[in-house]
Amino acid sequence: MIPEGSLLAAHDLRKTYGSTPALDGASFSVHPGEVVAVMGPSGSGKSTLLHCLAGIITPDSGTITYAGRELSAMSDAERSALRRSDFGFVFQFGQLVPELTCVENVALPLRLNGVKRKAAERTALEWMERLEVDDLGPQRPGEVSGGQGQRVAVARALAASPKVIFADEPTGALDSLNGERVMELLTEAARSANVAVVLVTHEARVAAYSDRDVTVRDGRARDLEHAV
Ligand SMILES: Nc1ncnc2c1ncn2[C@@H]1O[C@H](COP(=O)(O)OP(=O)(O)OP(=O)(O)O)[C@@H](O)[C@H]1O
Ligand SMILES: [Mg+2]
Repeated sequence: MIPEGSLLAAHDLRKTYGSTPALDGASFSVHPGEVVAVMGPSGSGKSTLLHCLAGIITPDSGTITYAGRELSAMSDAERSALRRSDFGFVFQFGQLVPELTCVENVALPLRLNGVKRKAAERTALEWMERLEVDDLGPQRPGEVSGGQGQRVAVARALAASPKVIFADEPTGALDSLNGERVMELLTEAARSANVAVVLVTHEARVAAYSDRDVTVRDGRARDLEHAV
């Protein structure tokens, strides 16, 4: 049921909003350090699948196993702690905290994990350097371009040494050149740190950076690892 060696695996997820089935028997898995693109048309259930995998929403039925533990068997507090310690997130519009500087944004996950300010900002700057935005440290998110903001968001997702990054249309608001640069840097950094990436996109150009594609249609994920 759980593919051998997978870090995060979902089996037969179902989730209904009112009478709308968002997930209708979706299965999925990702291995450590693997970049998997989740593709499919608008409304097919990609974001719902990502939110379930990340423990942000609870499916009506089905199982999600992370590092041998079932998410549904954890308390809300345990799931929140897991998200902070093991997961990183990048969304379509950066979701940086506007009141904080870029370096403070990148340092935030470390600060939430109890790292002292100086050490957190030092690590944050190292990641910003890798994402080529270290010169933006003192700026606020409102003062940087869309592509720069997304690279800051990627640095933030990586800063606390997660095991999995969830990226929902991370390049959706960028032009193709900036989008490709963000994908290049995201996948390079993730691969070198052995971080798995669950990448939701409907662009084939973006999915080309993945190791493997999974297609979602009508709430069903066609993950070849689960083919019978
Ligand atoms: N919070 C919600 N309340 C009600 N219906 C929802 C909610 N979230 C998603 N849905 C519905 O569930 C289905 C799947 O939505 P989802 O957001 O997962 O699709 P998606 O593949 O991410 O689409 P897109 O590519 O447009 O982002 C859609 O029919 C959507 O309208
Ligand atoms: Mg979506």
